[in-house]
Amino acid sequence: GPTTFRIDAGNTSVTCGDGQRVLDALLRQGVWIPNSCNQGTCGTCKVRVIDGMVTAPPAPDSVLSDAEQQQGYVLSCQSTPITDIAVEPPAAECGERHHLLRDVAGTVGSITAVADDTVSITVSLDEPFEFTAGQYVELSIPGTGQTRPYSMANPPSESDTLEFHVRRQPDGLATDRWIFDSLTVGAAVSMTGPWGDFCHQPGEPDVGLILLAGGTGLAPLKSIARAVLDADPDREIHVYHGVRTEAELYDVDFWRALETEHPNVRYTPCLSREEWSGRTGYVGDAMMADFDSCRNHSAYLCGPPAMVEAGVRALKRRRMPPRRIKREKYTPAA
Ligand code: FAD
Ligand code: FES
Repeated sequence: GPTTFRIDAGNTSVTCGDGQRVLDALLRQGVWIPNSCNQGTCGTCKVRVIDGMVTAPPAPDSVLSDAEQQQGYVLSCQSTPITDIAVEPPAAECGERHHLLRDVAGTVGSITAVADDTVSITVSLDEPFEFTAGQYVELSIPGTGQTRPYSMANPPSESDTLEFHVRRQPDGLATDRWIFDSLTVGAAVSMTGPWGDFCHQPGEPDVGLILLAGGTGLAPLKSIARAVLDADPDREIHVYHGVRTEAELYDVDFWRALETEHPNVRYTPCLSREEWSGRTGYVGDAMMADFDSCRNHSAYLCGPPAMVEAGVRALKRRRMPPRRIKREKYTPAA
């Protein structure tokens, strides 16, 4: 029969199937490891193997240094056991704050073109799906054996219909050649999730939020904003959405309605490549123009890596404590 290996993680041990990644096995069986990209590009999922052996593709030094490798650290999202292994006990278990990873099946309910090369998709699920606002799923691309990550834009309270915002990547396997090409309403989709630690956890400090989005990086920030306002309708939230041209803006009516309904929500769309009646330039610069200090706020940033990095620098210049800055980069699959 198929080979399975045991992974000991402190007081818990889980089984890992043939070819299964260590992170996948742990998250499915209740052991929480911080994780972000699940594709070997961020380094968040490092664990130290203290006994046994794994195999993994080579990792760039910027993600996993030689020194770390010598100490036994591996990227758990890229590593497959080849013997039983033991890893250094992780800090937390799945439970109230973290949901078990699982396979999820659904049916496409709608596909709406919302802007140039951008669609909003809803997927009805066969059973409710628990996640934390800000997390993502990996969609399986039919017939390819490949997956791509997409963030939920709906709040966790709407657990039986997921909303996604997808931007077309020219010649992209998931977008150009599947979602924008042949995906139709009624199609079955399979995915795994929830993934990621770009989360707003219920009960986090009751401070004003600054949300900086680039393109479809708006999706998880919409989930976070809706979840936060459901719990606290008066929360101060500043949303900056950056795109290049007005034709790329979407969900404007949604955010304008939210501003009307909630006195402390402010929505600022910014165009980087076009003059218009509204704000121009990058979201980080727009934020810096509006705030003298971000010392008493928290921030969530999501979008292309360069946008996220520039936004983090802008927040630090405005004295936001680094631990209050959460980010998710839409790094392309390797
Ligand atoms: P691929 O086949 O992967 O790429 C085709 C070619 O384009 C390759 O050469 C590739 O290197 C290049 N390429 C791909 N993306 C880019 C890029 N952004 N800039 C420059 N070159 C690129 N996208 C969304 O639209 N909505 C989301 O909610 C979303 N959530 C994500 C969450 C996470 C955690 C991550 C890591 C990414 C997320 N993405 C999201 C990006 C998404 O997963 C895909 O990478 C993207 O849709 C392109 O996939 P593709 O298969 O069409 O292109
Ligand atoms: Fe493993 Fe990013 S490198 S989660």
